[in-house]
Amino acid sequence: MAKASPQFTCTACGAVHKKWAGRCEACGAWNTIAEEAPLSAGPASRTLGGTKGRRIALSTLATEEAPPPRTLSGMAEFDRVLGGGLVPASAILVGGDPGIGKSTLLLQAVAAFARKGLKCLYISGEEAAAQVRMRAQRLGLAEAPVDLGAETNLRDILTTLEAERPDLVIIDSIQTMWADTVEAAPGSVSQVRSAAHELVTFAKTRGVSVILVGHVTKEGQIAGPRVVEHMVDTVLYFEGERGHQFRILRAVKNRFGPASEIGVFEMTGGGLAEVANPSALFLSERGQPAPGSAVFAGIEGTRPVLTEIQALVAPSSLASPRRTVVGLDSGRVSTILAVLESRCGIPFTGLDVFLNVAGGMKVSEPAADLALAAALLSAREDVALPPDLVIFGEISLSAALRPVGQVENRLKEAEKLGFTQAILPQGTKVEGGAGMRLRKLPDLVTFVGDMFGAG
Ligand code: TYD
Ligand code: MG
Repeated sequence: MAKASPQFTCTACGAVHKKWAGRCEACGAWNTIAEEAPLSAGPASRTLGGTKGRRIALSTLATEEAPPPRTLSGMAEFDRVLGGGLVPASAILVGGDPGIGKSTLLLQAVAAFARKGLKCLYISGEEAAAQVRMRAQRLGLAEAPVDLGAETNLRDILTTLEAERPDLVIIDSIQTMWADTVEAAPGSVSQVRSAAHELVTFAKTRGVSVILVGHVTKEGQIAGPRVVEHMVDTVLYFEGERGHQFRILRAVKNRFGPASEIGVFEMTGGGLAEVANPSALFLSERGQPAPGSAVFAGIEGTRPVLTEIQALVAPSSLASPRRTVVGLDSGRVSTILAVLESRCGIPFTGLDVFLNVAGGMKVSEPAADLALAAALLSAREDVALPPDLVIFGEISLSAALRPVGQVENRLKEAEKLGFTQAILPQGTKVEGGAGMRLRKLPDLVTFVGDMFGAG
């Protein structure tokens, strides 16, 4: 029998390569490709059709069943990101950088669910039971009826789950789990995949909800959460800048609710506190009106969030000037710089550009284009924008402004926070008399003329 040839898998995205390479062609990550034991080739000579299988029971789409009852944890930000509470028998992945606060968040969530009457189990593969207990004490959760286990052997965990039949189990983290049926080190792509598969299958067949914690890894060897994203119902990422105390829980996939919903938390000495009004928080650091600052009225999931986009433009001493972008898509920034240059005649050659979203927020909506351009222009011209102005609109390559969705929501939130004027694309339909002064502009050239004179 021919020996199966080795296989190389990217630990960041799971792509399989024929040979080792320094950079994964699929996701562009460096030094993430590792050799994996090939999955068993299987009985290639036999086909499935030869032997008879069991007939599976089929049913129709019509149903009398009520939608599954969801359980609310009472942590409103967490429940919202789940799409309105925890669905029974669902599999959820919570990814994030090490040290960002995943264990803290889930300990708080599991305690909240336990207090709502769910039978909850918290399995830690990273910390000893005593450490988790200590953390719970510090968070004031020691009284919550959560069963605690410290284990990494998947077989033992599944046996325990079978006997205990909890409603919810947290696995912290999936990278520490190992199945003795797979000949690979814990944390390798094949171990992580098979552990996730076993746990998710268990969840679906026994009606247990599982939450898997996955560390986002920068190194090879350890597989990242992306390799199990396709197996679970819901994928949440916990993000934030290390230096900031704000943390954002973002749904990137959800079979039971809207994707791209966010929950905002603040890391305090006593654990994660919910932030009910993120706009006020993200704008709270705004001081006197200064050049380079523009307020964007954005939508995250189902709710409006106002953020401040900050730009700094300075003469560069480099042959190819710097483009440093934090919290925004750098491709989008390049596009807008190009549009400003070729359609509006405002070059940024020889200038370093720094862009940032205040508070460590990430903005990915195309609707942020106009606010981004406004911040850039304001920084370049050294002219502050009016402090009570919000901006939104998408910029096309021809420099035309395209209308965006959920206009009323954006305007209402801005008005609530004391803004009195808005700049938006011309084609936008605004229903109801928003109490703000609206300026609808057809394109970026008009915007430049309007705000900064002839440009
Ligand atoms: P942790 O939940 O252990 O992160 P993860 O599980 O994602 O690796 O959180 C670690 C960080 O959170 C640690 O640097 C300390 C900080 N922290 C607080 O600031 N306050 C707290 O109450 C707790 C529990 C943690
Ligand atoms: Mg942890």
